Formats: sequence, C-alpha cells, structure tokens
Amino acid sequence: PPLYIITPTYRRPEQLAELTRLGYTLKHVLNLLWLVIEDANKTNPLVAHTLDRIGVPYEYLVAPMPEQYKHTKKAKPRGVSNRNRGLDYLRANATEGVLYFADDDNTYDVNIFEQMRYTKKVSMWPVGLVTKTGVSSPIIRGGKLDGYYDGWIGGRKYPVDMAGFAVSVKFLLERPNAKMPFKPGYEEDGFLRSLAPLVNSEIELLADECRDILTWHTQTKKNPAAQPFNVTRYGNTNLAYIEK
Ligand code: UGA
Ligand code: MN
Repeated sequence: PPLYIITPTYRRPEQLAELTRLGYTLKHVLNLLWLVIEDANKTNPLVAHTLDRIGVPYEYLVAPMPEQYKHTKKAKPRGVSNRNRGLDYLRANATEGVLYFADDDNTYDVNIFEQMRYTKKVSMWPVGLVTKTGVSSPIIRGGKLDGYYDGWIGGRKYPVDMAGFAVSVKFLLERPNAKMPFKPGYEEDGFLRSLAPLVNSEIELLADECRDILTWHTQTKKNPAAQPFNVTRYGNTNLAYIEK
C-alpha cells in the first residue's frame, strides 16, 4: 500500500536545508507520495527546484495560515492549514494506503515507514526529544495500550506527538468530518478525536511494542538570513573563485 507523507513547511532560512534532509530520508522509502504543503499564498520556485533535485515523488501545494492566527502574540497553530489541505488532497485523490504527518524539522528512522505501511486503522509509537521528559510514548501493560507517557498531558485523550502516529487512508475516508483543529497544543488530540469511533484495542503499537525510538522531535536552531553581498567587484559570481 502507498504511503502519503504530509509535510507542512514555511519560508525561513532553514527551509531548504530541512526539506533536503527529510527528502533524502524519504528517498529510502518505496511507494510513497510526499505532500509538501507550504504555509504561503503561492509556491516558491526554490522549493520546487529543491524537490525536483531530490527526486522523491511529490506534490507541492500551498495552504496559508488564516490571518487571524498570523499576528497573535500567543502560540500559533503551526502547520494546521497545511495538514488539513493534505487531508483534502487525500479525499480527492487517494483510495488506500496510509497517511503520516511528518514535520520538516524532525528526524525519522526509515524503518518506521515500513512498519506504518500496514496500519489498519491507527498506529502509534514513541517519539524522542519531546518536552523536558525527553520522550512521548504510549504505555503498554500486558501487551495492551494502557495510557500515555508525556511531559505535558494537558487534559488530552491522546497525549501524543505529531510524529508518533499514522492513519489508514480508508479509515480516514470513512470519516468525512475528520480534521485538525486550529488549537495550539491540541492539534494531534483534536485530529485523533475527530477519527471517532476509535477504541484503544484498535490502536496498533509499533516500534517493537513501543520499546524503540524511531522518530525524534528535533528542532533546528534559528539562523540569520543570508545577507546580500556584492560579487561584481570580483568579476565572477562563482563563490569558488572568490579569494579570502
Ligand atoms: C510542535 C508539533 O510537533 C507540531 O506538530 C505542532 O504544530 C507545533 O508544535 C505547535 O503546536 O505549534 P514545533 O517543533 O514546536 O512542533 O513546531 P514547528 O516545527 O515550528 O512547526 C510544525 C510544522 O509546521 C513544521 O513542519 C513547520 O514547517 C510548519 N510551520 C511552522 C508552518 O507551516 N507555518 C509556521 O508558521 C510554522
Ligand atoms: Mn518542529
């Protein structure tokens, strides 16, 4: 079955580096469509060129964050319009397979993609580097899901990280109202709740029954934007020719 990887992205100095690293990870995975969805009003040719060069099958779409959230001083619902656009794409174009939300800055062991590929309804597994406790994971007792470990539970029914679950496309298509809420901190919980009915015994536990960590919520430090500089004085725009 095909994998649909929904990746929200947005313009900043690190963007092409993040997409390059993630793209070459995805290049190790067969039968995959990468849905790269930018929080913007129009596509960026530099992003398209980067995706072409990587050579993973992709669709490049845009889905801007609604204006009301853009200018708030409070936490923003990052990547939510992008992911909901990805869900709309699947409703219009997919009939089978599995969907996974892969933020552009996280780290993924390619093994998790082969494990999630056979998800019947919803699958879950641990994510490293989440909050100050360092891991977010389903808790398993007697081989069964028995709650969640996370540094911040926040009254959530599903206190899991975005990188820690996958969903069957058929299961999604049977739930036309399923979507992600614009609610910072509650994106995963809101989306998983919108997949009701879903009972705990239907949640498949991957990564060796949640003993392995195969995905990490890594965060890239902010970098300064490249400054424009004058190359004409050197008479050559190829950086390799510029003396120290
Ligand atoms: C964490 C969660 O892992 C996210 O799924 C969640 O959306 C986010 O918190 C949140 O609650 O705001 P975090 O590492 O803090 O993620 O956020 P980012 O990695 O900065 O953003 C998540 C995704 O949305 C990324 O793929 C990023 O490229 C994208 N994004 C971020 C946008 O599309 N627009 C933005 O303005 C910011
Ligand atoms: Mn992140």
